[in-house]
Amino acid sequence: MTTTAPASAADDAQLSDPAAPDDRFEPVGVTPRYTSPGVTISPDAARGWVRRLGPVIKRHRLLFGVSVAAAFIALTAQLAVPAVIRSTIDQALDSRSRELTPFIWALVALGLTRGAFAFAYRYGLYSMAYKIDYDLRAIIYEHLTRLSFSFYDRIQSGQVISRANSDIRSVQMYLAFAPLMAMSLLSFVIALAFMLSINVVLTLLAIFALPGVYLVGVRLRNYIFPLSWIVQSRLADVATIVEENVTGVRVVKSFAAEGQQVKLLGRAAQKLQWAMVRQVLARAHHAPIMENLPRVGIALVLLYGGWLVIEGRLSLGTIVAFNAYILMLQAPFRLLGFFMMLGQRARASAERIFEILDEKPDIVDPVDPVVLDEPAGRVDFEGVVFGYGEGPAVLDGLELHIEPGETVAIVGRTGCGKSTIARLLPRFYDVRTGHVSVDGVDVRQLQLASLRANVGLVLDEPFLFSTSIHDNIAYGRPDADRDEVVAAARSAQAHGFIEQLSDGYDTIIGERGYTLSGGQRQRIAIARTLLVNPRILILDDATSAIDVHVEEAIHDALRNLLKGRTTIVIAHRLSTISLADRVVLMEGGRVVASGSHSSLMAGEPRYAQVLAHAEDEPGDDEAPDGLEREIEATRSRGLLEGIEATVNPLGPGGMGPMGGVS
Ligand SMILES: Nc1ncnc2c1ncn2[C@@H]1O[C@H](COP(=O)(O)OP(=O)(O)OP(=O)(O)O)[C@@H](O)[C@H]1O
Ligand SMILES: [Mg+2]
Repeated sequence: MTTTAPASAADDAQLSDPAAPDDRFEPVGVTPRYTSPGVTISPDAARGWVRRLGPVIKRHRLLFGVSVAAAFIALTAQLAVPAVIRSTIDQALDSRSRELTPFIWALVALGLTRGAFAFAYRYGLYSMAYKIDYDLRAIIYEHLTRLSFSFYDRIQSGQVISRANSDIRSVQMYLAFAPLMAMSLLSFVIALAFMLSINVVLTLLAIFALPGVYLVGVRLRNYIFPLSWIVQSRLADVATIVEENVTGVRVVKSFAAEGQQVKLLGRAAQKLQWAMVRQVLARAHHAPIMENLPRVGIALVLLYGGWLVIEGRLSLGTIVAFNAYILMLQAPFRLLGFFMMLGQRARASAERIFEILDEKPDIVDPVDPVVLDEPAGRVDFEGVVFGYGEGPAVLDGLELHIEPGETVAIVGRTGCGKSTIARLLPRFYDVRTGHVSVDGVDVRQLQLASLRANVGLVLDEPFLFSTSIHDNIAYGRPDADRDEVVAAARSAQAHGFIEQLSDGYDTIIGERGYTLSGGQRQRIAIARTLLVNPRILILDDATSAIDVHVEEAIHDALRNLLKGRTTIVIAHRLSTISLADRVVLMEGGRVVASGSHSSLMAGEPRYAQVLAHAEDEPGDDEAPDGLEREIEATRSRGLLEGIEATVNPLGPGGMGPMGGVS
């Protein structure tokens, strides 16, 4: 599979040192080249959108000032050209009262000046726009990293991505275009003044058709604007289908739904094509009118002006100069419509961007944070009530106390709030009432970074990045050397299979790690967390796709690795639960029983029921023989008897839930 590293970074590395393929991926977290813009938009939502962007624009005021000055000089040179031509024709060619060469030199000088300053202002304004583009992207990204989980629960990732890309683009385009437009209008005014000073009637004839150009422009815009929105949204539809088909290709193929998907894409593409053809049609109708209307002005000028020249009341040079000015006059008229459309779009885009930037992160460092340094690892949930957003309480008066070094398994029916407990400890969300504390300090008083560095969370569906296995494992500690990475991989029982991959630790894994099996991904995720060596470890179904024997080896390694590590294991499998010192049973948002596996088996009928139910629903990745092996293994440890006796009156070997699965 090819890599998806940002092209620029990859290019840089390859250009500077083609012999170092390892440099293509910068270790995540080590990005010294990043410079933060250090400003943000104005928080005052009552202001207009350009004013809210003020602080960002102000950062580049020097570049802006220089560019505008250059634009002004280029403009003056441009406006002077027709005047010089007029004198050339009248004085050097017609009356021969003056030499021709100085005029030619003057024209060359004006041309060069205009060229040089046009280069300067274009370069200046566009680079300013791209600097603002960079700033906005950085501001949004920095803000996104601060936003809490509750925000990501609500918003669709596609929305965030489009706001961080196309919306920034439309704002940036407008900001680059606005000064150009202002200059263009200024040139209109100056050209008009020149013309009026020469001859008022001719000027009026020349601009006779311009309101028509404007009106056609407005009409076109009114027609095109809704169409361009339709095109945009249909483009997004097509992109969504393509994206879903690529990322969801495994689902599409497994349901043999390719034909259906192709039809879906075909229909979306057809709708897009219809809108685009409409747009072209509208342009084709209006563009010739817009182009030819000003020629009416030119014709009138030639007619009336020509007559004046023949009568000897006007010089030939004046008519030629007039023609040149008429061409300059049209540009702003034609651009104005486009500019207004850009303005509307930029405003809508800016508002969409502000919507994200105005979102307040709800989980922030306290004013006077306590730094969690080498904690003992005591964890307490006291009277915790919690629900997502405005939703019903998921945890309702939860009491859970875990001693330093203890390994506790949390067991409960699916959806009872086990993962929620795992999310409250590293403070992904705040409790409604009660306390979550580490070593007796409420997590809301702790410095977030120190809390999260000490609480390692491994999920069942780990997210891996499309980089090398080494970089994935070293994600939390990019400075770790190969030996440390290998040691972590060994503890997670991943070293063996990594060695067998084509490039070992340097193997680049496909998007989200799809080139690995579910169990392999889980082991890499465990290694990634072990490398950070957190004092408190939470395994949320983190070994669900790993086979029982390997899982046992992982737990043995975990035990040896750090004596006294507090571990919370959330599991459905008996084999996993059996590795814990203590088991707590959850129901109705609270802990209803706690004790050793055997004591719960003996005294808590609900426990056996939950376990039996869980064993009834093996994970997707579970191969039948793996399951059989697991049942064998657990049976051999004498763990199944109790369950079978409780839920299966026929006894071991009868047609109980276990018999049903195997
Ligand atoms: N981000 C979220 N936003 C809103 N509701 C959520 C969110 N995450 C979970 N829930 C709800 O909270 C409840 C508890 O979910 P939780 O993930 O803690 O269950 P669980 O015990 O881990 O289940 P499982 O065993 O299936 O993993 C569920 O009813 C779920 O629908
Ligand atoms: Mg869960």
